[in-house]
Amino acid sequence: MAFDSLLQAADDFDHTIEGLFQSDPNRITRYVVEAAGICMDYSRHWMTDAVRAELFKQLELQQFDTQREALFAGEAVNTTESRAALHMALRAPSTAAFTVDGRSVMPEVHAELDAMSGFSDAIREGARCGQTNRRFTDVIHLGIGGSDLGPALVYEALKPWVDGPRVHFISNVDGAGLSDLFEILDPETTLSVVVSKSFTTEETMHNAHRVRSWLTDALGEEAIASHVVAVSTNIEAMDAFGIHPEARFRFWDWVGGRFSVWSAVGLSVMIALGAERFRELLAGAHAMDQHFQTTAPEHNLPVMMALLSAWYVTGFGIETQAVVPYADRLAKLPAYLQQLEMESNGKSVDHSGQRLEYDTAPIVWGDAGTNGQHAFFQLFHQGTRVVPLDLWLAANPIGSPQASHQLLMANCLAQLDALSFGTTEASGHRECPGNRPATLFLFESLTPEVLGAVLAAYEHKVFTLSVLWDINPFDQWGVELGKQLCGGVLKQLKTPQSTEPQTATERAIGWIQAHQR
Ligand code: F6P
Repeated sequence: MAFDSLLQAADDFDHTIEGLFQSDPNRITRYVVEAAGICMDYSRHWMTDAVRAELFKQLELQQFDTQREALFAGEAVNTTESRAALHMALRAPSTAAFTVDGRSVMPEVHAELDAMSGFSDAIREGARCGQTNRRFTDVIHLGIGGSDLGPALVYEALKPWVDGPRVHFISNVDGAGLSDLFEILDPETTLSVVVSKSFTTEETMHNAHRVRSWLTDALGEEAIASHVVAVSTNIEAMDAFGIHPEARFRFWDWVGGRFSVWSAVGLSVMIALGAERFRELLAGAHAMDQHFQTTAPEHNLPVMMALLSAWYVTGFGIETQAVVPYADRLAKLPAYLQQLEMESNGKSVDHSGQRLEYDTAPIVWGDAGTNGQHAFFQLFHQGTRVVPLDLWLAANPIGSPQASHQLLMANCLAQLDALSFGTTEASGHRECPGNRPATLFLFESLTPEVLGAVLAAYEHKVFTLSVLWDINPFDQWGVELGKQLCGGVLKQLKTPQSTEPQTATERAIGWIQAHQR
């Protein structure tokens, strides 16, 4: 069976975190990796040098080095769609050597980045205004999944640097959010950015048509040219929607949706922050790329993130992993990582299409600390399940008083000790067994560069896990079925039911129709 020796290592593992610290005081420095402004401390884990060696062996067995080279070489690592996955090119300098099908992609990447910058500057400086020559004060960003989660996270995380128009993110087809916005926004000063790689996603296109009508009702058909911008790989669909040729930005099929925030998908964020800040975000991610590409596993931060995850998922059958950023501005990080990790590695067949005999992506979840301490940390401390944790903590606050930040940091570090060592004297209902693994990620402050490095680190963690599990992290065939079924259900919902329901869905539709007002 795959991973036999890793499973044996897990079977033989009889240490506790407390015991490991007692037997090796130097542990506090030996299980630390630093890269691109992030300090990763994984000393509070079920981890020994022998386990680490076993995990490195698994990387070799899966030819990780060769796979990583293929990724950076622009090979068709997205095997089921015969595409490269070259999101690293989006944040690389123009001199970088990224190619797809033997041709450098850097000229078009930087041409698009420069076009974005010029457009963003024009909006921010008022050189490009709305139909009535008033400056844009608000942006409605329409997108879902990778066309929403990354930009929304970056916008919230970098709020202190927002000095341009406010951005409002609408993703769900539940129209309440957009209706609320229509109540407070002025069409004359609102720019809509429609982001969809396919430009066919039902929710986004439905919302885009609602915004289109809201704008044309107020300003006339000619307003579309100046009030609607689109970002897609689908030029024909943008034409069909009536997007003005100068109001569109493109990205490429070798950029996966959940890896696309670095492209024109991030246009709204650039308009809010300015091109300089956006380029700092890119630079942080590029620094992490260089670290990941050139560093040996033992000192490779994303690789160690992946190996820890594989140790618990594959070695111990642990099914979930929590992410708890001790920063309100990173509250959207767990949701972003849910797509990045679970849509990438939530697979059950290997590259050749054979069903796997082992588990893959854990269920990723979480919320900001200290809030989580008052919601789900009880389970971490006394539950029957072990949930490995990623805790993120800044040394310096931005926009938060030092006294508040000291309290935040004290809570985070205290939780780590409680999770690792538990209670000593208490028993029964009050006993906390401890020995609950957690990684502490420290960084100086939440700057654009650090944020770029954080997101890139998780991208490379996901890739490394896909290599270990021999799966394709860059496709998402599982989401197609629901989309295909939706059309038929919509038709049933619109057709008054005339016969006795024969299925659960028909019964539900019957109940809905009987109760609709
Ligand atoms: O969830 C399926 C999915 O295709 C994601 O992979 C993608 O990020 C999202 O829908 C939105 O797709 P698009 O950018 O094409 O609208």
